[in-house]
Amino acid sequence: MRLGLNIDHIATLREARKIHEPDVLEAIFVAKNTGVDLITLHLREDRRHIHEDDVASIIKHAPMPVNVECAIDPEITKILCAYHPFKVTLVPEKRAEITTEGGLNLEHPQLPQVIETYLDHGIEVALFIDPGLENLERALELGVRVVELHTGQFSNLYNTLYSNFKRHKNRLDLPQDNTTLKRMLDQSLQELEQSALAGKKMGLEMCAGHGLNYFSAGLVARIQSLQELNIGHAIIARAVMVGLARAITDMQEVIRRAR
Ligand code: PXP
Repeated sequence: MRLGLNIDHIATLREARKIHEPDVLEAIFVAKNTGVDLITLHLREDRRHIHEDDVASIIKHAPMPVNVECAIDPEITKILCAYHPFKVTLVPEKRAEITTEGGLNLEHPQLPQVIETYLDHGIEVALFIDPGLENLERALELGVRVVELHTGQFSNLYNTLYSNFKRHKNRLDLPQDNTTLKRMLDQSLQELEQSALAGKKMGLEMCAGHGLNYFSAGLVARIQSLQELNIGHAIIARAVMVGLARAITDMQEVIRRAR
């Protein structure tokens, strides 16, 4: 199973100050030295974290394959065909959303043309889809070799059931009783399992991701037909915690030496 690290939130932190650090490329080299298999980033229309310059320098310098998530958008297609990442993952994008909500609309009128353009440029294309046989069949019809199953609903159910998320101000509008949540979670995991297996049998390369964390990722990683997981937020959030003590002691040392 490959692990793709989504590094958008390194750039989110940088954009909070609009300066040069943290450096996205430095993070990528740490990831490489730690055994990450590919780097994933999302070039959003509003450029809220990753910018075009990041895409250019990451594709040029990253010592591993680069997967760029993006919307169906002619301007983005032009940019990415010029920079030539290893893979493009087409995702739905709404300006007001906090993160990608739901899978791609596979009936989008521009989708066949966008797929063809990337494939003609020798760029692998993945479609970010909700689990389901119909979606897999449509993906195949559209001529892609790779799909990424959206694990967002599974993750939301898992967090609502097994963490204090249910009581948090950002909680989602989901049933509150544990029996219903458990039933929905089991069903969601089953859908992911069945879709991964069906997709593999159809000859598709099966990836998955979105919202997975240190508690929920194992349940999805157990699905043998999946070949790649793309995880970002949880890893960057944990890095803040497990790396914070070292960052504080390094600064204490800088101050101590100056006295
Ligand atoms: N896969 C896709 C297609 C995504 O859009 C995202 C979020 O950018 C991820 C994986 C990673 O999601 P998360 O940051 O929640 O782990």
